[in-house]
Amino acid sequence: MKLLIMGPPGAGKGTQAEKIVKEFGITHISTGDMFRAALKNQTPLGLKAKEYMDKGELVPDEIVIAMVEERISAPDCAKGFLLDGFPRTIPQAEALDKKLSEMGITLDGVINIEVPREELIERLTGRRVCRQCGATYHVKFNPPKVEGVCDACSGELYQRSDDSLETVSNRLDVYEAQTAPLKEYYAKTGLLKNIDGTKSIEEVFASIKNALQK
Ligand code: AP5
Ligand code: ZN
Repeated sequence: MKLLIMGPPGAGKGTQAEKIVKEFGITHISTGDMFRAALKNQTPLGLKAKEYMDKGELVPDEIVIAMVEERISAPDCAKGFLLDGFPRTIPQAEALDKKLSEMGITLDGVINIEVPREELIERLTGRRVCRQCGATYHVKFNPPKVEGVCDACSGELYQRSDDSLETVSNRLDVYEAQTAPLKEYYAKTGLLKNIDGTKSIEEVFASIKNALQK
């Protein structure tokens, strides 16, 4: 199974991606996670990406495209993959089409999660992430059993630096201007599955599974 998951910041892509990759036994490729991991290791890629991420801007296409082209060719992607947070611009989508066609691969589905802006702001500003395993929580909607501590690995929970109100607002504007046009791009392929992301995490997951069976 080769899938894409898209939607605005805070729509629940990462939350659903964790469940989808487990369900289908495929590899999760999140460009945001890759940049955060690169930053943690203080690599030149990570430091470059941080300049953009902290402002809520997109990392330049050529950097992201090169990174994904390499990642998608790795052996663990042969069993199938879920691309999360890529493509985010039309040039990225075109580059992906080209790469997949060179590899002789076609996508099986594009999941698009829709959530209104007000709710996205509440979700992002209340998000907490595990420093150790990357699991995602929400102070109100998905709290850990013990405040500030990951249920899965007991790691410390922190707030992403781009989840401040000011940066969130810019990320949502950037999404509307640069990423939302991809809905039409993928609608034309017949692969687009629009999912109402305002329901509970389990209900959204059920809708995704259902949509992928059609
Ligand atoms: P990235 O890490 O991809 O961030 P994003 O797209 O902004 O998405 P988020 O991770 O913020 O949200 P999500 O949809 O995964 O939501 P989540 O599941 O966590 O990118 C970060 C930055 O990297 C970008 O700004 C850019 O600079 C750069 N970048 C990355 N990819 C790039 C690319 N291709 N090109 C250029 N630049 C790129 O959920 C959010 C919260 O809501 C959580 O607290 C969660 O618990 C809660 N929640 C989830 N589902 C529900 C629900 N159903 N009900 C209630 N609460 C819920
Ligand atoms: Zn953890």
